[in-house]
Amino acid sequence: MNLILLGPPGAGKGTQAIMLTDRFGIPQISTGEILRSAVKEETPMGVKAKSFMDAGALVPDAVVIGIVLERLQKADCKPGFILDGFPRTVAQADALKDNLRDLEKDLTAVLALEVDNDALVERLTGRRTCRQCGRGYHLKFDPPRTAGQCDVCGGELYQRDDDREETIRKRMEVYDSQTTPLVDYYQQQGLLTRINGMQEISVVQEKILATLRTF
Ligand code: AP5
Ligand code: MG
Ligand code: ZN
Repeated sequence: MNLILLGPPGAGKGTQAIMLTDRFGIPQISTGEILRSAVKEETPMGVKAKSFMDAGALVPDAVVIGIVLERLQKADCKPGFILDGFPRTVAQADALKDNLRDLEKDLTAVLALEVDNDALVERLTGRRTCRQCGRGYHLKFDPPRTAGQCDVCGGELYQRDDDREETIRKRMEVYDSQTTPLVDYYQQQGLLTRINGMQEISVVQEKILATLRTF
């Protein structure tokens, strides 16, 4: 199963991707997380990406396309993958299409999570993220069992640098201008399914699973 999770910042891509990973045993490929690891390790790519991410802007296409194409070659992607946060521009979607053709793989579905702007801001300002494994929590909607500590790995929870309200607004604008064209792009290819993301986490998961059963 080869999936794309599409949706604005805070729509629940990461939250749903982790649950699907557990269920289907296929990897989550989150370009945001790969980039945050590179920033943390201060690799040349991370140093370059940091200023774009802190500003809420997109990292240049060539960088993220390179990351994903390399990641898709790995053996764990053989049974399938869940792309979370990629593609985000038409150029990225075209590059993915060419690469999947070369790998003789097809996309199973593109799931577009739809959430109102006010809810996105509430979700992102209340989000806390594990420094070690990247799992996301929410102070109100999905709190960890022990405050400040990741349920899965015990890592410290922190607030992402780009989860300040001003940067959140910028990320939402960037999504509207650069990523929403992908909704039509995948609709035209008959791959798009819209999912109402304004429901509880478990309900959204159920809706996704029900959709996947139809493929
Ligand atoms: P990235 O890390 O991908 O950030 P994003 O797209 O802005 O999305 P988020 O991770 O903020 O949201 P999410 O949809 O995963 O929501 P989550 O599940 O955490 O990218 C960061 C940056 O990296 C970009 O700005 C860019 O600079 C760069 N980048 C990454 N990919 C790139 C690309 N392809 N091209 C160029 N640049 C790229 O949920 C959010 C919160 O809500 C959590 O607290 C969660 O607990 C809660 N929540 C989730 N679902 C629900 C629900 N149903 N009800 C209530 N609360 C919920
Ligand atoms: Mg995410
Ligand atoms: Zn963790």
